[in-house]
Amino acid sequence: MYKILKAEKLSATNYLMVVEAPRVAAHCEPGQFIIVKLDEKGERIPLTICDYDREAGTITIVFQPIGASTQRFAALKEGDSFRDFTGPLGCPSELIEEDVEELKKKNILFIGGGVGAAPVYPQVKWMKEHGVDVDVIIGAKNKDLLILEDEMKAVAANYYPCTDDGSYGYNGMVTGKLEELAAEGKQYDICVIIGPMIMMKFGALTAKKLGIPKAIVSMNPIMVDGTGMCGACRLLVGGEVKFACVDGPEFDGYKVDFDSAMKRQQMYKDEEQREILKLQEGDTHHGGCGQCGGDE
Ligand code: NAD
Ligand code: FES
Repeated sequence: MYKILKAEKLSATNYLMVVEAPRVAAHCEPGQFIIVKLDEKGERIPLTICDYDREAGTITIVFQPIGASTQRFAALKEGDSFRDFTGPLGCPSELIEEDVEELKKKNILFIGGGVGAAPVYPQVKWMKEHGVDVDVIIGAKNKDLLILEDEMKAVAANYYPCTDDGSYGYNGMVTGKLEELAAEGKQYDICVIIGPMIMMKFGALTAKKLGIPKAIVSMNPIMVDGTGMCGACRLLVGGEVKFACVDGPEFDGYKVDFDSAMKRQQMYKDEEQREILKLQEGDTHHGGCGQCGGDE
């Protein structure tokens, strides 16, 4: 069992938990993820690692309760436990494998969207710890949904918050801020983009238009086993089949087929909606309501 040492609501839609998982904390690197299971019958949910403390043996996760399982996670309190906490899974960020002195010569920009700020944070923190200055753009629908602001300000050379409704920072989407920075003369060699797939698609298109040589995205399709066996996380990258859980989650943002990835994500939505109804209506929900599709 993996004990929850801290459970906090970060914003209206995002939750943070610090979980006791010494083996994962001893081995994980920025960019990797874990798969969490609440109980024996629970669904396996992939979550990015937001932070880790090797000495304390803890992992910090940040999640949005969008499905039935993550809604159950949100109800957990300090002292509760997860049954499984498997990881670290996936490959570490490709940037942390590069020569640090070479990294210091490059202009690097990280872009995080919504809860995608969580996987951006450990990478930017790693850069700061290794003396690499990087800029960070973080976007959210409004000021109240911006997360990890103080943490991000402490590790970024320049931090640019953006809100879709203009309630804080740049008024508009992260892609607009990227264009504004380019118009002001900022030139980047590498752009790391992590967030909703639609943001990564348009982030990569904008980076390409601006002539940024390299764009890295972190893909989070539906995952089941997380070990390359089930095929759930299949993606097309440069025309080749890849599996996000073992070949990624990072990929070349200029090569990912985002449209097919988003179509695939959509196909799982009906199943997810049925699970949410079951959670909300308990045993009274039999799937035969004619509305949810559970009787089809
Ligand atoms: P959101 O929908 O509020 O979007 C966040 C920001 O992305 C916006 O503020 C905007 O700046 C930008 N954005 C959105 N659509 C855009 C577009 N069409 N063009 C340009 N920019 C755009 O974010 P949210 O509700 O927090 O998103 C949650 C999603 O993020 C979930 O689908 C989740 O699966 C995904 N997620 C991805 C990762 C990852 O590793 N890639 C990690 C965690 C969560
Ligand atoms: Fe099963 Fe990736 S989650 S192959």
